[in-house]
Amino acid sequence: MSSPFKAIQISDHVHWVGAIDWNVRDFHGYMTKRGSTYNAYLVLADKITLMDTVKAPFREEMMARIASVINPADIQYIVSNHSEMDHSGCLIEVIDQVKPEKVFSSVMGAKTLKEIHHPGPAVTPLKDGDSLSLGSMTLSFLETRMLHWPDSMFSYLVEEQLLFAQDAFGMHLASSQRFDDELDPAILRYEAATYFANILTPYAALVTKLLARVAAAGLKLRIIAPDHGPVWRKDIPGILSRYADWAAHKPSRKAVVVYGTMWHSTEKMAQAITEGLLTGGIDVKLMSMDVCHRSDVVYELLDAAALVVGSSTLNNNMLPGMADILTYLKGLKPGNLMGAAFGSYGWSGEAPRQIQEMLADFKVDLLADPLQTRHVPDPSVLAQCCDLGRIIAEKICQKVTP
Ligand code: FEO
Repeated sequence: MSSPFKAIQISDHVHWVGAIDWNVRDFHGYMTKRGSTYNAYLVLADKITLMDTVKAPFREEMMARIASVINPADIQYIVSNHSEMDHSGCLIEVIDQVKPEKVFSSVMGAKTLKEIHHPGPAVTPLKDGDSLSLGSMTLSFLETRMLHWPDSMFSYLVEEQLLFAQDAFGMHLASSQRFDDELDPAILRYEAATYFANILTPYAALVTKLLARVAAAGLKLRIIAPDHGPVWRKDIPGILSRYADWAAHKPSRKAVVVYGTMWHSTEKMAQAITEGLLTGGIDVKLMSMDVCHRSDVVYELLDAAALVVGSSTLNNNMLPGMADILTYLKGLKPGNLMGAAFGSYGWSGEAPRQIQEMLADFKVDLLADPLQTRHVPDPSVLAQCCDLGRIIAEKICQKVTP
């Protein structure tokens, strides 16, 4: 019986030959609630070329899709745009199987593939601006260091105006559809934003520079083929413009209040702060870390102007769930935020101060000293919380035009 896995043509000479991972729910702490895809592409030029591979357990699926179009032994070149294991995990086995003439990557990619695969494949490194003739077609390369690994690069198929963008412009979305115009725009926007927030936030300034480089180079983009999620063939201006906005940390009149609570005292404070913000005309997301996931907090921060964080004190520390989200945020460094810390305690009240220090670590503009109370907040403390919300609201309104 022939394999059920088939390639899908995405342009005159390019087929999608990736894999759909319907079940993955965690990507290094990022909750992938809609699963993902690992996209690989086959370029049917004189030199048949495979662009990236897939996560190791999905090799057979990819090989079957390739075999639905060509004999895999006819692959002459493999290009590794990104060494992370969801795209290079089966590279060595694929090389052993198809025995390509050459494998290409960026200079950093050649180094990284060695460090991952020991001893790694023999790779011909490519520099920024290099071109590679595939006979009937041409690939040109653009280094995209730290977007989001040092090895990352884009490959541009000149004749088809098709950009192989590795992780950029991707999303974790398993679906039976392969193209952006076949999917609900609201889901696309949400998943692309969640992906940007959880993967690219630390490199936002580099995204801005890269978009400027692509524009300055005058690259015409008819198709963007990322390594995760759908292929962009319709709303290319939309995804480019959203990337520009997200990278610029453009805030709206919105605040995110995140808290962890033991006996609902810190929760009461969080609710009062939220009421103050609402009174000041601010859109608020109130997020208990008992029920919200860290990935969702980061998504909400993408267009927020303020982050207010509270925790009860447990054994001289903030609650574990709060250490989790703050550690995640410290790594991602969401920018252009103002904020404050708060919390209730019983006999020692370290948590709000600890939160304040962590917020300062990722450059949150702190608007007040930590607000704390012993045990259950009384009406005067709740009034102070409301006042804090109003103060933050005023600052947001001064900073963000509606
Ligand atoms: Fe999809 Fe950075 O790997």
